[in-house]
Amino acid sequence: MFDIKILSKADTEKLLKMKDVINVVENVYKSKSEDKTCVFPLIFHEFEPGVADMDIKSGWLKEGNIFGLKLVSWFGENVKKDLPSLVGLIVVLDSTTGVPLGILDGAHITGMRTGAAGALGAKYLARPDSETLLLVGAGHVSTFQIAASLLLFPKLKSVFIYDPINYKTAVNKVNTIVETLSNDFGIKVDESLQFKAVEDIKEATGKSDIIITVTPSKKPIIMKEWVKPGTHFSCIGADMSGKEEIDPEIFRDARIFVDDITQCINVGETEIPVSRDIIKKEDIAGEIGDIIAGKTMGRENDEQVTIFDATGIALLDLATAKLALDEAKKISMGSTVNI
Ligand SMILES: NC(=O)c1ccc[n+]([C@@H]2O[C@H](COP(=O)([O-])OP(=O)(O)OC[C@H]3O[C@@H](n4cnc5c(N)ncnc54)[C@H](O)[C@@H]3O)[C@@H](O)[C@H]2O)c1
Repeated sequence: MFDIKILSKADTEKLLKMKDVINVVENVYKSKSEDKTCVFPLIFHEFEPGVADMDIKSGWLKEGNIFGLKLVSWFGENVKKDLPSLVGLIVVLDSTTGVPLGILDGAHITGMRTGAAGALGAKYLARPDSETLLLVGAGHVSTFQIAASLLLFPKLKSVFIYDPINYKTAVNKVNTIVETLSNDFGIKVDESLQFKAVEDIKEATGKSDIIITVTPSKKPIIMKEWVKPGTHFSCIGADMSGKEEIDPEIFRDARIFVDDITQCINVGETEIPVSRDIIKKEDIAGEIGDIIAGKTMGRENDEQVTIFDATGIALLDLATAKLALDEAKKISMGSTVNI
């Protein structure tokens, strides 16, 4: 009855360019601030705590006439079965008819839109003359953060990579990143840019202008007294209650923006500073889209510490998925199923 396009991870890897995804994510944030979107309540279920869970994030983009969801399941025991522990599926539907438009793999799209989100936080809040980026976390999503950050900050001189668990993982990332950026993102790295694996997080923090945190940590990795004035944080890893990556005291005097106020207070890096009364909800300067829409200013001076807490909203997945579906249509990529 309906034609539905199915796009695999390999398809979206070919179809999506990071610079286009950055534009899509920027527009979604702006639309959200202008009340042209709706984020539906998150569903989270633990089949067995610490072993298997799933969440469904969903929403509606009024301007794009689409709604839909991303379902992510995490089954920790899957490694033993030679299956990935994290599986994501995106479903996009037409909001004028309710008809499904596409079903897409969620892993690559999540990486792309999350990379764009972290880098956009820096675009709107970091000092424009920033030269040093520190990645805390050297896993799957960190690569996308680096790619998007290089596109928005082409004058970066150093990228430090820190892995809180195993220094060798950071070293491996440094050894492969230039090739990955070229092969997967078409980004040619200038010789003047230095990638460095770091072991001393205190020292690296003190040297960094932009810090992107992207680990599943449940205790602070960066302490307030190490942070130099004017530093920007994009906090990406905390997307579930109890996760935290930076000292909650950093929030006390910082200018704070979030992707979604309710979600960030419930499950983001903002959760713990609010629950401990270090900050109140009113101390959050706004959602990042409020800066993009020109409703408020981002950084107020060069000395200010700024924070962007991004928990990830389904609107980003849906808009990025729609971009992939539109691009696929142009070149007849993917399979079409009539249901
Ligand atoms: N905000 C969003 O939109 C969004 C999107 C995707 C992923 N995430 C979150 O980002 C985080 C990283 O995701 P990923 O796919 O890159 O994971 P990954 O497993 O590929 O990499 C995780 C990194 O963190 C390190 N690490 C693992 N356990 C840790 C711990 N307990 N404390 C400190 N460091 C630890 C690992 O060594 C690695 O460097 C996760 O918490 C994930 O849920 C958020």
